[in-house]
Amino acid sequence: MNRHLRIRAALSAAGAVFLAFSSTALAQQDPVARGDYLVNGILNCGNCHTPRDATGNFVPGMDLAGGFRIDELPAFDAYAKNITPDVDTGIGSWSVEEIITSIREGHTPEGEKIGPPMPIFFYTNMSDEDASAVAAYLKSIPAVRNEVPESTYNIPIPDYPPATHALAPSPSDQVAYGGYLAMLGHCFECHTPRNPDGSPDMTRMGSGGFGFAGAPSGATIYSANITPDPATGVGNWTDDELRRAITEGIGHDGQPLFPLMPAGFFKNVTEDDISAVIAYLRTLPAVVNEVERNDWRPGT
Ligand code: HEC
Ligand code: HEC
Repeated sequence: MNRHLRIRAALSAAGAVFLAFSSTALAQQDPVARGDYLVNGILNCGNCHTPRDATGNFVPGMDLAGGFRIDELPAFDAYAKNITPDVDTGIGSWSVEEIITSIREGHTPEGEKIGPPMPIFFYTNMSDEDASAVAAYLKSIPAVRNEVPESTYNIPIPDYPPATHALAPSPSDQVAYGGYLAMLGHCFECHTPRNPDGSPDMTRMGSGGFGFAGAPSGATIYSANITPDPATGVGNWTDDELRRAITEGIGHDGQPLFPLMPAGFFKNVTEDDISAVIAYLRTLPAVVNEVERNDWRPGT
């Protein structure tokens, strides 16, 4: 049994007690366990912050130690930072409050702006409880010494709105809670076409077609249209097919999806939380956008 399954089991065993405390239930959970669940699940921070080897696999022992390079030249050449508690090369000297501000408002304790593709835009509404849980978890993980190069930006780094301090919707409101989780999972950072200034074009949210370089074959990989359009999106996929794509990384045709899609993290998300994300996806405005199919196959 892995760590995440154990958390899930602990939750359901305690479920009856939590119900008695109604919507404050999540607050009763140990913040480090909640942070672990979020960071290694829906938030998939490690999809950028854990370095990979030449074959695309995560380097063992380097969880969240940074150094993964993501460039969108000429706009920027970014290195995801070391967010382990190492004092010299990570964020070990940052307070919980400073970590929370960096994630939701996009600046460091020294006042330097944090640039893309760190998806600050999608973290603005992260609840105080969840943001505190994430910070508590980041403080609890092993410190890894890893000096990360500076990022270069040839575009202005956006100013992000202040954190809203909104409460997370209650999980009993499935669509609203699913929307909250989809924002934390920054599905639309990858699945939304861009404006000329590089920001996601939210009038076409979820309609895919944003390209990523990085397949070993050199091919560009395009994100899929995940709006409910039946012809060009996922409108006629069943819930089970969507669940399989999100948590197992397997497409409609039974073939593996390019692993940039963070299914390896989403597999740690509870069934109820994935159901909420799916319920929310079904409510998105359908956008007609035919995305070129990726013919990527493992090892190519
Ligand atoms: C899509 C990729 C991506 C994801 C996902 C991502 N980050 Fe980042 N993050 C980055 C990049 C790139 C930087 C460096 C930006 C820069 O150099 O200005 C960064 C910077 C940071 C910093 C600032 C560190 C420093 O020393 O300046 C923190 C803290 C951070 N991320 C935390 C997180 C957490 C927590 C999560 C998950 C909730 C997360 N990030 C998810 C790409 C990502
Ligand atoms: C880091 C970028 C990234 C993030 C974050 C991301 N995806 Fe994806 N996703 C992709 C890419 C790229 C593909 C296409 C992969 C391929 O075709 O092999 C994809 C494919 C999919 C598919 C399969 C659709 C199809 O037509 O094949 C679904 C469904 C999906 N994503 C849902 C989600 C949901 C829901 C979230 C958030 C909870 C999410 N994705 C987050 C990049 C991402």
